[in-house]
Amino acid sequence: MLSVSTAIRQRISVRQFLATPVSEAQVRALLDTARWAPSGGNLQPWKIIAVAGAEREAVIAVARAELARSGDGVPREQGSDLVYPPKLWEPYRSRRFQVGEDMYALMGIAREDRAARLAHVARNFEFFGAPVGLFFVIDRRMGRAQWAHLGMFMQTLALAALEMGLGTCMQEFWGTIRESLHRHFALPETDLIYCGMSLGHADPRAPVNALRSARAPVDEFASLRGF
Ligand SMILES: Cc1cc2nc3c(=O)[nH]c(=O)nc-3n(C[C@H](O)[C@H](O)[C@H](O)COP(=O)(O)O)c2cc1C
Repeated sequence: MLSVSTAIRQRISVRQFLATPVSEAQVRALLDTARWAPSGGNLQPWKIIAVAGAEREAVIAVARAELARSGDGVPREQGSDLVYPPKLWEPYRSRRFQVGEDMYALMGIAREDRAARLAHVARNFEFFGAPVGLFFVIDRRMGRAQWAHLGMFMQTLALAALEMGLGTCMQEFWGTIRESLHRHFALPETDLIYCGMSLGHADPRAPVNALRSARAPVDEFASLRGF
């Protein structure tokens, strides 16, 4: 059995999946485990939409229509920008830059090849080939604390998936079309789609899945006092 620390270290963002299906029973089992994630006041402020088969295709069609509407392969941001603060500062700016450069280098895509980079970004909207897509929804009235709790649910789910032999990629990119998805799923006004997630079997031969992103060492982000 995979230890928790091994699972944490092994989890990566998978960006190319095999077509091998994931069953409803597997998705239910994952959600059944992830619901034990903690949340302040035990609010459990998460709602999940899982899509497979025709429902997955329908979501992909919504995304394609948005890309076609934008005309330049970049969807128009919908709703508030919940991804990065504007004008990222150091060290965050360099970290973001580096992981992108490393990923495109592995894929053999040059920096100047904007079309190829955009085509890869657009693969977000196909769940990178994964047979299951998940959407993480939160009530708009919730505060920052509850958003953090939703994140705990997502990571718990990703680790449980790993134990099942499944890969994941969290995808804020889906948030760029959150209003269109909101209409598509006919969600109540109070709901907000935060993030997507691809779920499936990683393609072990895909170069992009060889990416191992770096992490700052402990002493760069932690100060241990009074030991
Ligand atoms: C909430 C969240 C949203 C993310 N959204 C995307 C996304 O839209 N597309 C993508 O390719 N990667 C996305 N990522 C993956 C990050 O780029 C990745 O976690 C980071 O580079 C560290 O790499 P690792 O997950 O392989 O450890 C997201 C990660 C998180 C936690």
